[in-house]
Order: sequence, then C-alpha cells, then structure tokens
Amino acid sequence: MSQPIWSKGQASVDALVQGYLAGEDVILDRELLPFDIKASQAHVKGLARIGIVSDDEATAIVAALRDIGEDFSAGKLTLDAPFEDGHSALEEWLTQRLGDVGRKVHTGRSRNDQVQVAMRLLLKHRIDQAIALVHECALAALDMAKSHQSTPLPGYTHLQRAVPTTIGAWMAGFAEAWADDLALMSDVKRFVDCNPLGTAAGHGVNLPIDRQFTTSELGFDRMQVSPQYAQNSRGTFEVQVLMALLQPLQSVRRLAWDLSLFTTAEFAFVKLPDVLTTGSSIMPNKRNPDLIELLRASPAVVQGAIGELWSIMSLPSGYHRDLQATKPPTMRGLQAAIASLSQVPTLLRSLWFDHKRIDEAMEGSMLATDKATELAADGVPFRQAYQQVGNALHELDELESEQLSKRVEASIEARNSPGGAGKLMLDEIARRIG
Ligand code: ARG
Repeated sequence: MSQPIWSKGQASVDALVQGYLAGEDVILDRELLPFDIKASQAHVKGLARIGIVSDDEATAIVAALRDIGEDFSAGKLTLDAPFEDGHSALEEWLTQRLGDVGRKVHTGRSRNDQVQVAMRLLLKHRIDQAIALVHECALAALDMAKSHQSTPLPGYTHLQRAVPTTIGAWMAGFAEAWADDLALMSDVKRFVDCNPLGTAAGHGVNLPIDRQFTTSELGFDRMQVSPQYAQNSRGTFEVQVLMALLQPLQSVRRLAWDLSLFTTAEFAFVKLPDVLTTGSSIMPNKRNPDLIELLRASPAVVQGAIGELWSIMSLPSGYHRDLQATKPPTMRGLQAAIASLSQVPTLLRSLWFDHKRIDEAMEGSMLATDKATELAADGVPFRQAYQQVGNALHELDELESEQLSKRVEASIEARNSPGGAGKLMLDEIARRIG
C-alpha cells in the first residue's frame, strides 16, 4: 500500500511509528475481517437505497467484497503492516479491484463505527458459541447426575467431612448453575445486540443513512441510536460479554478444583482417563491432570482482560485511539473462555469413580446431622437432639462397614428436602437447561 487512506499527500508517518500504530491490530483484524466485510456489504446496500451509489455500483462492491473475503481465507491476501488496520486494507483491496467505485465505500461512515459494527458482530457470534457450549456442559453434568443419582459421595464443608451426599447432587449443582448462566448469557446477548453502523465518527453524518435497513440486514435486534453512545459503548459492551462468559467459567473453576482434589492419591475418588492426562518429563511414575489445572486458570485470563478493558476506558466521550487497545484483551478473553468451555463436556463424561475409595472415606459420624434432625422431627427440641447425638458420635463411628453403607444409603434416600440428595429434582433442572 502506497499511502494510508487518510493521506492528503503530505509526508507519511514515520515507519517506526506506523508499525507501532498498527501493532497487533493488523493481526487481530484478521479475525474481524469477515464481519467487517459483512457490515461493509450492508453499508453499501444502504448507500444504494439513498442514491449515494448506483445499484450497479453497489452490486459490484458487494461482489468484490465477497471475492476479497474468499481470497483472504484462501491466503491470497495478507493483512499485515504496512496496512494500518483491516479497514484500510479492505478499502485498498476494493480500490485495486474496482478503481474509483471502490473509493466510494467509505461515504457516510468512519472507521470508528466500522470497527464497532465488526466487533459487535464478532461479540454476538462468540456469545452464541459460548451459549451452545454451556448448554452442552449443562447437559453433560445433568447426564452424569442422572446416571449417578444415588451413588454416595462424602459431602464437605470447610473441606472437612460433613454429611453423606451423592455424585448426583454434586453434578446437579453444576447443571443448574450452567442453566442459570445460559439465561444470563442470553440477556447479555440481547444487551449487545444493537447496531452502531451509520453513527460514523460519533456525531452522525449529513446523509439520511438507512440505519433501520442495515440493522435488519445485519440481523441486529435494534439500532444503537445515539452516535455518541455508540462510541462510548466500545469496551463497555466487550466487558459485559466477558463477564457473562466468566460466570460459567467460575463453575468450571470450581469443578476443576474439586477434580484436582478428588484425583489425588489421598482422595482418589475420581480417575481421569489417560487421554485426558499428561506425563512428566522427568518422573516416569507420574500422570498429571494438566487439563483441569489449565481450566482452573482460565477465569484468570478472562478476569485480567476485563480489568485491562476497564483501565483503558478511563476516557472522555467519543473515539480515542486508546480504544484500539480494547481489542487484544477482548480477543484474548473470548478465546480463552471458548477454548476452556469446549473442553468441559468431554471431561465430565469421562470421569470414572472409584466407589471403593469413596466408601472408605465415609465416616459413621457423618450421619450425625441426619440423626439429630430425625430426633427433632420426632419432637425432641433440635438443640437437645444435637447434644444427644454429639455425645454419642462414637456409636456412629463404630458401625461395621456393611451396616454403615446401609445407613448411608437410607440417610441419602431420606434427604427429601426439595433439591436434597434424596430428591434432586433433575426434571426441573432439565427443563431449565432446555
Ligand atoms: N484500528 C482502529 C481501532 O481499532 C480503527 C479506528 C481508527 N480510527 C481513527 N480515527 N484513527 O480503533
């Protein structure tokens, strides 16, 4: 490219400065380009509707944009320095193909609304992908809950043995959390589902741009009316999407932590298949749960990205080149969230439980709470029942293992408070997952 698109013939920007300005942008814009192309096609069709380009010109530009997209995916076009960004490259490539007609594409728009609309489409696409993945996570957890509905598992508080629970109850907790997260993510999708195209540099333009047309052409729910708001929402919308993705990742982190403990030799409740573990470069005896450890780290990446975004947005109204710096944390956060979520369904379905180890971890005194509650149900004031059972814990701890298993089973079955281990209400959770 000879000159930047904004050149009026004066000396061009210092090459080192130019490289710095383009920075990661030319690389990250490779992911934005397909969305930029889609939005540019809508923009040009909109220009034809108000007579700024002829129908033939619009048809030629739309077709050339499509060809550019194909050539770009086939590796025939490279987005790199010396382009300033993907938007400049697109205009340059169009002009190379169509001459002056290509130079008409930018009428009535700025790179400021151009980057916003492309990013908005990308955000919608990514949140859709994340919704589909969280749906799969929820279904996998639900299936595990169903198939291990009344299989005992020690229940902990403070990481100390507390009461008998079930694998079903443990899994149901994740299934319901992800079901709620799905609703949250859909709400956030609706929140960001508005069209900034046609707001130009943040102050509108002196053309009756058909913004309603581009809004429906691009499949947006509504128009983002105020041009200033359109600019000011750069970064804040990205944050909302990343926060919506952080929510299901928090459950992933908890699951990863649980598994990290349950797969130790000390607990040994769960085994991961060899295909999901790695070896050590020095210790021939090791199999390591690297996958669950990286899953545990993934919310940190998203959280870091959110923090970085908030810091960048300490700005006055309108466009500032600082806003370009919102792109790397956004892309990084989205990528980390989606990559991690896509690992979870297979992980869940591959868990293998060592029931012998689980039984060995069950202590008789874990029946104490249910026993005290039982006495209370028979009329003994609860505090009295608590003390009575608490003073005779040794009786529970001395139960023979067969006797203990039976008592654990009965205890679980009797835990009939809605949602409790004996009444998981998996149908209700399934209904919420949809
Ligand atoms: N690459 C730029 C960004 O991401 C595009 C907008 C540039 N606009 C400008 N007025 N220099 O922000």
